[in-house]
Amino acid sequence: MPRFSKPVCLLVLITGGAVCLLGAGESDERQFTPRQCDPDQVVGSDTCIKCHESELKQWRQTPHYRTFDVLHRTPEAKEIAKRMGLRSIKRNDTCVTCHYTRQQQGTRLRVVAGVSCESCHGGARDWLELHADYGGPQATRETESLGHRQERREASIHAGMNNPANVYLLARQCLSCHTVPNERLVNVGGHQAGTTDFELVAWSQGMVRHNFVRSDGVANQPSSLERLRVMYVVGLMADLEASLRATAAATENAKFAQTSAARAAKKKRQLWEVQRLIDEPLVLAALDPLASLELTLGNEVALREAADAVGKAAYKFAEEVDGTSLGAIDPLLPAPKDYKN
Ligand code: HEC
Ligand code: HEC
Ligand code: HEC
Ligand code: HEC
Repeated sequence: MPRFSKPVCLLVLITGGAVCLLGAGESDERQFTPRQCDPDQVVGSDTCIKCHESELKQWRQTPHYRTFDVLHRTPEAKEIAKRMGLRSIKRNDTCVTCHYTRQQQGTRLRVVAGVSCESCHGGARDWLELHADYGGPQATRETESLGHRQERREASIHAGMNNPANVYLLARQCLSCHTVPNERLVNVGGHQAGTTDFELVAWSQGMVRHNFVRSDGVANQPSSLERLRVMYVVGLMADLEASLRATAAATENAKFAQTSAARAAKKKRQLWEVQRLIDEPLVLAALDPLASLELTLGNEVALREAADAVGKAAYKFAEEVDGTSLGAIDPLLPAPKDYKN
């Protein structure tokens, strides 16, 4: 049975994430923290390896995996921690939010990995079994009906999985870390103010890519052109949403506020460029509420409402729009040589 929190999270999914982004018991309304997976729900990547060995191997080639062993040793990280007044990098709530995965082990909360499978796909305890069930012990990938596949996918999302079937769910995760929405970390700690050159296609189709399931484990396939088009637009929308939330959370006219607002403005321009090419009602639904929106301090309510609208449109876009109709944006897509390797 779903726990009490499930209907809430379902609602959040549809409304674009505002409530979950704040996290349970968050007292400061202005905070916008990345959606970390709930340590209670984390099963750990040792569980995934049983069925997803190739994915694990690929993940281990990335900074997401390496940050666990490396970060606390780098002089740059030590400097940031010092400026923040933190004595440990692994044992505080700040760095852990984006660089690590925590798991509840009995009464202990332990840092178990860097940015892991579950940092992106969501803590798996409630969806693990059902996502891997083709429809009973006799069923296989080949015998699974289309209807069951659809049901399995929906059930996994309802149980908290960021299933790649709706790529917004994953894009939202990336951007909630890669916009670095922590004002003090940037202004006081001197941490870089987000990955300003992030673009979902280039950043997900290089070293991060682990598309083995779709080829039955044989090869790590890049996504199809149609899917890349959807990813490009959804990536822009998720970036715009996260940048608006970061702008809403800013309190002082300094680097964090300036970078976040400039980023939101840029994503808005880029999304208009897309809209002129594809004339898509769901993109318009994201852009319309931004028409007279001021990207300034002290405008949190309007900024957050706009972010909600963008997130909602992005979820629907990822759900409904088939990339075959988006050929007009092909010149905007990054070339494979520019994928992040
Ligand atoms: C018991 C085997 C098993 C385990 C353990 C397992 N998976 Fe899967 N996984 C599967 C199967 C089977 C599929 C469906 C592949 C297909 O679509 O044919 C799948 C598919 C997926 C997908 C693609 C979306 C989907 O629902 O089809 C993701 C993402 C995923 N798994 C992540 C994980 C993560 C993360 C873990 C560890 C927390 C994990 N899996 C553990 C068997 C497993
Ligand atoms: C809100 C998310 C977030 C938080 C919190 C965060 N980081 Fe980062 N950090 C990132 C992202 C994203 C990158 C990668 C940026 C890129 O490559 O474009 C990064 C990169 C870094 C780097 C440069 C890469 C490297 O490994 O040398 C250092 C150093 C770093 N972070 C230190 C810290 C420290 C120390 C803390 C805690 C005081 C911290 N970060 C908290 C998101 C975060
Ligand atoms: C939980 C936070 C988090 C999430 C979610 C996340 N990242 Fe990252 N990512 C980081 C951090 C932190 C680093 C830097 C690690 C380091 O170098 O220490 C990073 C580094 C990277 C790098 C390497 C950058 C470089 O300069 O080499 C790529 C590529 C990347 N992320 C892509 C993605 C994509 C694509 C997604 C979503 C599908 C994503 N990330 C989701 C936190 C996150
Ligand atoms: C940085 C975020 C991130 C991390 C970490 C991550 N994934 Fe994924 N995963 C994604 C994205 C994004 C996609 C969709 C990519 C695409 O469609 O090109 C995906 C797709 C998948 C798929 C479906 C692939 C297919 O062929 O359709 C599986 C299975 C999967 N991930 C399992 C895992 C497992 C297991 C781990 C841990 C070893 C993991 N993921 C770690 C972001 C991530």
